[in-house]
Amino acid sequence: MTDRFTDTIDMQNSVSEFLDVYNSRPIKENAGGMGVNHSWALWFVLRHVNPSVVVESGVWKGHSTWLIHTALPNAKIYSFDVSFSRLEYKCPASTYIERDWSLFDWSNVDLSNSLALFDDHQNCYNRLIQAYWYGIRHAIIEDNYPTGQGDCYSLKQVIARSGAPKIQMSANSRKRLGRELYYSIQERLYQYIGHHQHRVISPNDYDSGNLQQRLEHYQIMPPLNVGKESMYGHPWTGEYARPEEIAPDDPKLQQLDRAYNFMTYVKMK
Ligand SMILES: C[S@@+](CC[C@H](N)C(=O)[O-])C[C@H]1O[C@@H](n2cnc3c(N)ncnc32)[C@H](O)[C@@H]1O
Repeated sequence: MTDRFTDTIDMQNSVSEFLDVYNSRPIKENAGGMGVNHSWALWFVLRHVNPSVVVESGVWKGHSTWLIHTALPNAKIYSFDVSFSRLEYKCPASTYIERDWSLFDWSNVDLSNSLALFDDHQNCYNRLIQAYWYGIRHAIIEDNYPTGQGDCYSLKQVIARSGAPKIQMSANSRKRLGRELYYSIQERLYQYIGHHQHRVISPNDYDSGNLQQRLEHYQIMPPLNVGKESMYGHPWTGEYARPEEIAPDDPKLQQLDRAYNFMTYVKMK
């Protein structure tokens, strides 16, 4: 196990520089995408791992692409989404591919020093299996939902052996889907349901065992500053426990994120 990110002082010291970067972001309104807490964690981990190739699955308006490029100006980026109809920022260092990342020919891309960012609400366990197959060992997971929450099978749920027993389409997704059907029924269904994820995962031991066998490092990144309870209305205990905030009193943080889960860094053996 590497203890690369366990130095809280290192994280705290990065906040001021990060907030100056964050305040220059091209997309100021990013509902449906990353807020300040997840943006900091992405920026921090990227600069420490320092990959030369970043694969991004789930682009939305392009905020995370901008952040990847800003953190690692020399990295080559591959940005995947099933629809770029929302794109507002286009990155000069990125190749944009409108399909699932697992349906791309990686045979001519050197992934020996690469990292994958999964922010696509797909079965995360399957995403890591795919990453492993393509030779990617570092991953950042955006949606690490606690048991019983979220719209995709998360690593927390794998580790808790809880499965993902509900239909993996949240009330929010259904509402959004209703509003946006006019874009393209097929495209949106593909986007929200995702053609790779199993919709229901039974509680099981084997996913957890297989995951733990491959994990070299698993770290839930702390938030900078969040409210007293999660977006689900739960206190931050038990299933909802989170790492300590690293900048609870920073005057530069203008607004609190309504947090519901925390960025997670994974290194596979
Ligand atoms: C939460 S948003 C991404 C936010 C973005 N990373 C940001 O904060 O800047 C999720 C995105 O995942 C995309 N998505 C859904 N299914 C996908 C798939 N199979 N492959 C890639 N992207 C997918 C959706 O179209 C949506 O744009």
